[in-house]
Amino acid sequence: MCSTQEQNKKTGEPPQGLIVYSSKTGNTRNLAEAIHRGFAEAGISAQLAPVEENPDPLGAAWILLGFWADRGRGDAKALDYLKGLSGFRLGLFGTLGAYPDSAHAKGLAQTMQALVAEKNTPLGCFLCQGKIDPALTERFKSLPADHPHGMNEERMQRHREAAKHPDDADRAAAIAACTAMIAASSGAGGAG
Ligand SMILES: Cc1cc2nc3c(=O)[nH]c(=O)nc-3n(C[C@H](O)[C@H](O)[C@H](O)COP(=O)(O)O)c2cc1C
Repeated sequence: MCSTQEQNKKTGEPPQGLIVYSSKTGNTRNLAEAIHRGFAEAGISAQLAPVEENPDPLGAAWILLGFWADRGRGDAKALDYLKGLSGFRLGLFGTLGAYPDSAHAKGLAQTMQALVAEKNTPLGCFLCQGKIDPALTERFKSLPADHPHGMNEERMQRHREAAKHPDDADRAAAIAACTAMIAASSGAGGAG
């Protein structure tokens, strides 16, 4: 699936870390692949896998879990995978329709980090916008204006802005944030 994994298969060495992601429409996968590429360029060895492959975390020195925002929480597949993890140094990255500096995004990051902290050591959480499924935007447009998801000009503008993400700046910021998470966790072994 990825060159790092093939290399590890050849040398028989376990990967240093695991990047596992859940993505419905591709935004979070895009970030995960950028982080994996950025890490490879920096000499940080990691296995990259979609959550559907249910990668075995055993022996991973750290884990980065990617998720997308679904009704104010991480998506179900990411949360399910998280439930099976215990004792790991675990960082998060995710995409959402809301602005990353909004109260909604801050609440999401806090909720997710609290879930990580139940059984693992949280390393941080990077969030950026990701384009919203146009079918969802159309559904919201059909709602009355006073509905919590009813569309007004401010919300339309947010959906238009989300459609531009993740962009190059988001990918660079994700690599930097995740590199810092890993650096903060270095020197200690994994839980596996
Ligand atoms: C069913 C559904 C629920 C969503 N819920 C939220 C939400 O609560 N908050 C938010 O900011 N974005 C929400 N979004 C937007 C997605 O989180 C965003 O588009 C994300 O980038 C999708 O990631 P993916 O392409 O990796 O699947 C929702 C999207 C869908 C389709």
